[in-house]
Amino acid sequence: MAGVYGSVAAAVAVAVVMVAAMVSSLPCGVEAKTTIDPCSGSDSCSALLGYTLYADMKVSEVAALFLADPEALLAANALDFAAPGAAHRILPMGLFIRVPTRCACADGVRKSVSVRYAARPADTLATVADGVFAGLASADQIRNANALASADPDAPLDPGQKLVIPLPCVCFNSSDNNLPAVYLSYVVQVGDTVPVIAASYETTVTDIMNVNAMGSPVAAPGDILAIPLPACTSTFPKSASDHGLIVANGTYALTAGNCVQCSCGPGNLNLYCTPASLTGSCPSMQCSNSNVLLGNVSTRATSAGCNVSSCSYGGFVNGTITTSLSTGLQSRCPGPHQFPTLTEPPTTVNHDSTFLPPLSAPGPAEAGGAIPPPSSPSLQGGSFTLPKVSTANGPAGSVSEAPRMSKPHQILSSFIFCLLLYSQILIAMWL
Ligand SMILES: *[C@@H]1O[C@H](CO)[C@@H](O)[C@H](O)[C@H]1NC(C)=O
Ligand SMILES: *[C@@H]1O[C@H](CO)[C@@H](O)[C@H](O)[C@H]1NC(C)=O
Ligand SMILES: *[C@@H]1O[C@H](CO)[C@@H](O)[C@H](O)[C@H]1NC(C)=O
Ligand SMILES: *[C@@H]1O[C@H](CO)[C@@H](O)[C@H](O)[C@H]1NC(C)=O
Ligand SMILES: *[C@@H]1O[C@H](CO)[C@@H](O)[C@H](O)[C@H]1NC(C)=O
Repeated sequence: MAGVYGSVAAAVAVAVVMVAAMVSSLPCGVEAKTTIDPCSGSDSCSALLGYTLYADMKVSEVAALFLADPEALLAANALDFAAPGAAHRILPMGLFIRVPTRCACADGVRKSVSVRYAARPADTLATVADGVFAGLASADQIRNANALASADPDAPLDPGQKLVIPLPCVCFNSSDNNLPAVYLSYVVQVGDTVPVIAASYETTVTDIMNVNAMGSPVAAPGDILAIPLPACTSTFPKSASDHGLIVANGTYALTAGNCVQCSCGPGNLNLYCTPASLTGSCPSMQCSNSNVLLGNVSTRATSAGCNVSSCSYGGFVNGTITTSLSTGLQSRCPGPHQFPTLTEPPTTVNHDSTFLPPLSAPGPAEAGGAIPPPSSPSLQGGSFTLPKVSTANGPAGSVSEAPRMSKPHQILSSFIFCLLLYSQILIAMWL
């Protein structure tokens, strides 16, 4: 008898240890996965955040939320940044956009640490993380970054309380498989699969698995994947304030105080910069000892081939737009430069599409709750604040209910999933 009880006790002990080991290694619980890019030194690099608008918001409001420039935000999405009043256009709730960010090196890993958010009445860590920042930061990460004591993500924050919002980004040396790439931090949505994400960004499942060090092609909603996008890199010197400029294929970037616009693609991945007609007072953009302007290409057919000379951009150094005139022989003269297509900012989100085109994601992941109405943010001393919530220009509803309804639902389903998994493991071990 004692022997039987002994072996049962031993089996129970073994099972408990194994389940405990599995609990700690399985993707159960609420902690979402984020890809890590170790780094050292203080260099920052350029990356993109994939953001789904939680409310109808002006371009300038989205930009202020992420400390970005409104025109630069539009440019990064190939939206017409030079149109009059572009910064005041209203973008629709649920729209998926790319937000350019500086990716710093903090505590040995890449992350964006410059965004500040001032809590509004009824904000909680959960509503800020899942609502305002659309899952790019978790309540735990915001709590840790601000050394907050309270463990309850649904406890109201003090209105006006300034929060550092750490945001996930990676650079991986701005390359992928030895080709230039800029990385988009993508929050996996309910219903997403890795093959569909890979297809919509014209990459492969293998590549996404390699970049994100995934053992299997499975991602859970809330996980943050780094998606490599083909890009045009620059070779500006370290002294240039736009050193490391990188532009994703099919998009634009603004630099040199919005005096210069650079585009990438569609024909090749050579960065192409021209004067931007956004602002009146810009330094000279003429190539020295010539009368050609930045971006001008002149061609002359010769017996040896086509003599191509071009005035190209070399970075913004000490308030000076540096340029260089280069000439070379090509087998044939290039045609006029093809630019990526710029489109009007969308006013609606296409909910019909089953996959993710670059500019529209599926609607808000958990439908059914009210979303806080938009407000007018303003930049004050480098921090982001939203004045009193106004219901005049947005969907009416409770400010705090929506994320509270969605989050416990998510937690509960993953809890049940894990419970089922563990009970099956236990049963399997008893048999
Ligand atoms: C990044 O690139 C630099 C030079 O371009 C190289 O020295 C370094 O080894 C690269 N690092 C990684 C992790 O590939
Ligand atoms: C760049 O984008 C264009 C379409 O916008 C596409 O045809 C081309 O293949 C892309 N280039 C790369 C290297 O992905
Ligand atoms: C030179 O560039 C300017 C500005 O981009 C453009 O307006 C002009 O047409 C170009 N000239 C030539 C000869 O390409
Ligand atoms: C190409 O043209 C430039 C002037 O436009 C000239 O200085 C250069 O010598 C030419 N190169 C060749 C190989 O013809
Ligand atoms: C930029 O200006 C500072 C002084 O204003 C000077 O010391 C420095 O050498 C300049 N750098 C370059 C690259 O011209």
